[in-house]
Amino acid sequence: MKTLIILGIETSCDETAAAVVEDGVKVKSSVIASQIDLHAKTGGVVPEVAAREHVLKIVPVIDEALQQAGCGLADLDAIAVTQGPGLLSSLITGFTAARTLSQVLGIPLIPVNHVAGHIYSNWLDLPSINEVQYPVMTLTVSGGHNELVLLKGHLDFELIGETLDDAAGEAFDKVARLLGLGYPGGPAISKKAVDGNCEAYAFPRAMLKSGDFNFSFSGLKTAVLQSLPEQLTDKVKSDIAASFEQCVAEILTTKLVRAAQKYNVREIHLAGGVSANRRLRKVVEEMIKQNQLEATLRYNGNLQYCTDNAAMMAGVGYLYFQTGRYKNLESALPTPHLDLYED
Ligand code: KG4
Ligand code: ZN
Repeated sequence: MKTLIILGIETSCDETAAAVVEDGVKVKSSVIASQIDLHAKTGGVVPEVAAREHVLKIVPVIDEALQQAGCGLADLDAIAVTQGPGLLSSLITGFTAARTLSQVLGIPLIPVNHVAGHIYSNWLDLPSINEVQYPVMTLTVSGGHNELVLLKGHLDFELIGETLDDAAGEAFDKVARLLGLGYPGGPAISKKAVDGNCEAYAFPRAMLKSGDFNFSFSGLKTAVLQSLPEQLTDKVKSDIAASFEQCVAEILTTKLVRAAQKYNVREIHLAGGVSANRRLRKVVEEMIKQNQLEATLRYNGNLQYCTDNAAMMAGVGYLYFQTGRYKNLESALPTPHLDLYED
């Protein structure tokens, strides 16, 4: 059977990314121009700064992705691009580049939901797109979203729970700022937490007693703020970082495991930037064992595929391409608040 080669393009926030993926799983190239250094100066993403950087980087990043994959524009079968959710001024650059290329080359443009991309990042580097056993319960968590999604089959998404306020990644970023640890907060907190005592501070585990699968992280930031002593020593920072990280990991895991039990899934997946967190992975592994779940735990061992990248967009784009289930250009424009469950 002929292989399908898809170019993925992702510019939803602060990474300009392009990738070439074969049959939804085989990553031939994945290029990411990170804006971290630029946004570290301001302690967070300034949309106008991000937008301008995308304009500068989009063409060289696509060129590099094609070159690394050893293919030319004529080898592409389709282009998958992030439609939303994300920053409108960032989305527009990737979308316009993808749309222009698809029209010039006369190949389909597949607009894809960014969260769907994160969910399918766990398929990247697997031997085939059919390797995963459904049903799957995915916890997908980043700076912008925090959701529990049930998949009964390819592209069959059902929202089980979500955050009612902040996403866990956002909490990591805010707490890192309180502790003066820099941007992005997730990796900075993890590093600081290594030498800390995760039981030093008893931060609140919000909504664990609620019968639903929703989350809330806005109170946690306030609790951390109130716990700060006048002398923010290195030891205090490490203890707060470790206690905070443990708290987030326990909240996310408790609901994930409960949802996995309720829906009797065959696999449990972690996705999104926060899934790069080692403590979260460890707590999930432990809780699966404690509860004697037989479901297989999967997360992508390649940290590059946890945070924003274009390979995941090409991966999920392949599934839409195969089923022919993608919107035409008239109804698909860059959309900052795009629901995964709209079809
Ligand atoms: O998926 P992503 O790159 O972008 C969004 O879609 O938002 O996720 C970025 C988020 C940031 O909030 C960052 O602090 C968090 O993921 N993150 C982490 C880790 N690496 C990135 N959070 C906890 N631990 C990490 N190791
Ligand atoms: Zn993301």
